[in-house]
Amino acid sequence: MSARRLDQLLSSLGYCSRRDARDWLKAGRISVAGRVEKDPGVKPSPAAVRIDGEPLDHPEGLLLLLNKPLGLTCSHEPREGPLVYDLLPPRWRARNPQVTSIGRLDKETSGLLLLTDHTELVHRLTSPKHKVPKIYRATTDADLSPALIDTFAAGTLVLDGEKEPCAPAALRLLGAREAELTLIEGKYHQVRRMFAATGATVLTLHRASFGPLTLGDLAPGAYRELTPAEQAALSA
Ligand code: URA
Repeated sequence: MSARRLDQLLSSLGYCSRRDARDWLKAGRISVAGRVEKDPGVKPSPAAVRIDGEPLDHPEGLLLLLNKPLGLTCSHEPREGPLVYDLLPPRWRARNPQVTSIGRLDKETSGLLLLTDHTELVHRLTSPKHKVPKIYRATTDADLSPALIDTFAAGTLVLDGEKEPCAPAALRLLGAREAELTLIEGKYHQVRRMFAATGATVLTLHRASFGPLTLGDLAPGAYRELTPAEQAALSA
């Protein structure tokens, strides 16, 4: 990230407006490399900045793994609330660039959702070129025939309203009405529409993994930062 002016840095990390940042500087609350700094125009290394003696909160950006609970929407529009972003601290919600989800899950889908303010990462991981495998667990209102495995694997299923067929997808039957589906793309409501195309309605849907990442024992509604190893695996 290119060097930012001190007032811009504080406001982009969600601390305050640029105007308030200038007041904080005048009041002597900000130091850079151990010395009080009053000039809003300097462009310090974020790691050297302290506010009231405290280091900046994730100045290099956020990359979070959330276990999305049911009933929350992946949107920044308060009218569509409750929102997944309501789970985050207010300062993170005030960052610019905004913390946003890498792809979306429906309101009534639970599971693994990545949140970040690294805009470039959002573009890269949601690009159709990237083909990140994502595993979904679904339960349905009708028995699932083993013939569906070939139907989904063939890469010929055309969803209602689409011109291009879905890419080949791996279906694993877990029970009469329960299955795991691995997708490498992310069309709108894709899992629900794929099952609907074969005559079954999805009753519950949960995303268990995104590329190399899984939820482990993260509780619904909880989030954590990615470990350096997970970040490297995601970028590989
Ligand atoms: N497919 C769906 O139908 N819904 C989701 O939330 C994700 C994939």
